[in-house]
Amino acid sequence: LERSSRYHIPQETRDKTRDKEAQEEALAPRDEQRRWEEQLLGAAALRFGARDAARHQRHPEYPLLLEEEEMVQFVSAARLEGTDPQKSLQDARRALPIFPFREELLAAVGQHQVLVIEGETGSGKTTQIPQYLHEEGYTRAGMKIGVTQPRRVAAMSVAARVAVEMGTKLGNEVGYSIRFEDCTSERTVLKYMTDGMLLREFLTEPDLASYSVIMVDEAHERTLHTDVLFGLIKDIARFRPQLKVLVASATMDTERFSAFFDHAPVFRIPGRRFPVDIYYTKAPEADYLEACVVSVLQIHVTQPPGDILVFLTGQEEIEACVELLQERCRRLGSRLPELLVLPIYANLPSELQARIFQPTPPGARKVVVATNIAETSVTIDGIVYVLDPGFCKQKSYSARTGMESLVVTPCSRASANQRAGRAGRVAPGKCFRLYTAWAFQHELEETAVPEIQRADLGALVLLLKSLGINDLIHFDFLDPPPHETLVLALEQLYALGALNHLGELTTLGRRMAELPVEPMLAKMILASEQYGCTEEVLTVAAMLSVNNAVFYRPKDKVLHADSARVAFGVPGGDHLVLLNVYNQWVASGHSLQWCYEHFVQARSLRRARDVREQLQGLMERVEIAPSSCGGNLDLVRKAITAGFFYHTARLARGGYRTVKHQQPVFIHPNSALFALQPRWVLYHELVCTSKEFMRQVLEIDSSWLLEVAPHYYQAKELEDGSGRKMPKKAGKSREELG
Ligand code: CDP
Ligand code: MG
Repeated sequence: LERSSRYHIPQETRDKTRDKEAQEEALAPRDEQRRWEEQLLGAAALRFGARDAARHQRHPEYPLLLEEEEMVQFVSAARLEGTDPQKSLQDARRALPIFPFREELLAAVGQHQVLVIEGETGSGKTTQIPQYLHEEGYTRAGMKIGVTQPRRVAAMSVAARVAVEMGTKLGNEVGYSIRFEDCTSERTVLKYMTDGMLLREFLTEPDLASYSVIMVDEAHERTLHTDVLFGLIKDIARFRPQLKVLVASATMDTERFSAFFDHAPVFRIPGRRFPVDIYYTKAPEADYLEACVVSVLQIHVTQPPGDILVFLTGQEEIEACVELLQERCRRLGSRLPELLVLPIYANLPSELQARIFQPTPPGARKVVVATNIAETSVTIDGIVYVLDPGFCKQKSYSARTGMESLVVTPCSRASANQRAGRAGRVAPGKCFRLYTAWAFQHELEETAVPEIQRADLGALVLLLKSLGINDLIHFDFLDPPPHETLVLALEQLYALGALNHLGELTTLGRRMAELPVEPMLAKMILASEQYGCTEEVLTVAAMLSVNNAVFYRPKDKVLHADSARVAFGVPGGDHLVLLNVYNQWVASGHSLQWCYEHFVQARSLRRARDVREQLQGLMERVEIAPSSCGGNLDLVRKAITAGFFYHTARLARGGYRTVKHQQPVFIHPNSALFALQPRWVLYHELVCTSKEFMRQVLEIDSSWLLEVAPHYYQAKELEDGSGRKMPKKAGKSREELG
């Protein structure tokens, strides 16, 4: 605990801790693999009444794990009992800040078509308002109430909670719909869904006729999809006077929403908040991850009871932090009161996510290491301390280069304040900011730039075009996207063949819009028909959807895990490795044991299989017959290239640069091609941490680029800068091209 002067921790404690650390140094590490297995088996032991036998028949190993929804529901119920066994569910509902305003709110909804609702996180907007409306009769005559959430996790967990409160099974009256997972039925009247899913519903039901109420929740997040929903919903509200529109948001931006919806009234739910003391560091932190770990331990050792919430930027960082914390706690051993370290991020398996909601056992302290998701989308009871390094991961898009990447950036002041607010929900709290007061005032932006102004708009433009909205420049945006980004999206869709030279949707474009994936991925999938490898490409697409969670690498088995991973190696690159993993898993009979032995996460593979099945269904809908290329994986690589020819880089003078824009990029160290450094590569995505890393990299032949995108590439661009001869194969195909 070297740099513990940060928050004035008494010297005494410091020395004690250091001693302990030294003494416990020799303690044998716990077997993480075993623990991981226990976790999974523990989940399996909880098995009760698996949802339907049909699924079991299709996938015999399914009952091994509890169905996700059931698990969420179960944990929500457990949490309810745990938090306050005396209190009935209805009492808990009545205790929420929104409850005293129930009648007033219903009256306002009755009076106005559009209502903006503002209230602190945790006041009951998401869980209560839809129930009030349901009780009031808005779901009569088969009408539904739709509630959008920017995050899948929130949609699922909130739906689970509401199902418990209404005493129904998730998927019946209350359901949720997220991409590749529909947990609703004929009976569903309260439908929680991601904003992207509601957007897609416009494709099948352009006026949302089956909805009596649409609640756009977490509006302040200003995600791309939420922003577009604003425009579309405003439009349909005009000719559907009966439709009620609610725009719910934390205490931010509500005036803007009101102005956008022709000055709709704002309904404010007064918050109940305890004071939160804010502490800043005296000097900037060089390594905020390390600073987090140290600070958590300091809080744990010196502060009165209360759980800790740490905000980090993403999965990798969170896992690193959790590991560091667990390791230090292990070293400090039993002399340290128990510290439960729980991660939460979008890709985390839901039964592990649900653990953050379980009440902390007496005598222990819980530390939740979270992404932005805990800022406003989920409420964790019992948090008293917040640790805020002041960063978040944001999409950033350059219209000049057409490159979208995830970048770790300082969060906004509004975010920082939301984060601090999480500490004051149950008692007076403390927020430790790992930056200086000066930085807060001068370096943080007031609010975040809405996603629509920093994202690739390809998917969105494709969707709007297929909704018949052709004039994108004059679309009613709350904040318009940059002109260049729109133009670039149109150009990309043209290059992909989704639009013709008049900007109209082509047959290919229409098919692409049917697939709920990014245009490049959609193109890749559709191109597999022509190359006779739909089976393989569907697998690749499905595996890419879980890409960062396929391999498991426990800290004490790093060598084993890495060699297991290397053993999956096949020439060609990461996409083919993923294909290989999946195929071997299928060949093992979807064996869980096989997954353990090969350090592969069974859950991710199962999810990939679900995704794959759905994509397969969609392929049937666009009338593409299944085909397989057998061992000829070049065909698979060509199909991938047909979708991702924008994402290419060439090795020259020791480094990679993107082909079109000469941007320096690097192969991610986790890539199978990291050591090989082939001359021409294609990447699935760019992640910007210390550098621009290409993640999921595939070796390609430069001549394929001419074959798949002759209107985008010219032969001259693809000549080898090194002066060396082109690979033989490449030369040949060029001749073939004539
Ligand atoms: O939407 P808002 O932030 O205003 O509040 P909410 O999500 O409706 O949450 C109201 C209360 O429901 C929270 O204080 C939680 O105690 C509880 N809740 C829960 O137990 N489980 C969830 N998944 C969501 C909310
Ligand atoms: Mg909410």
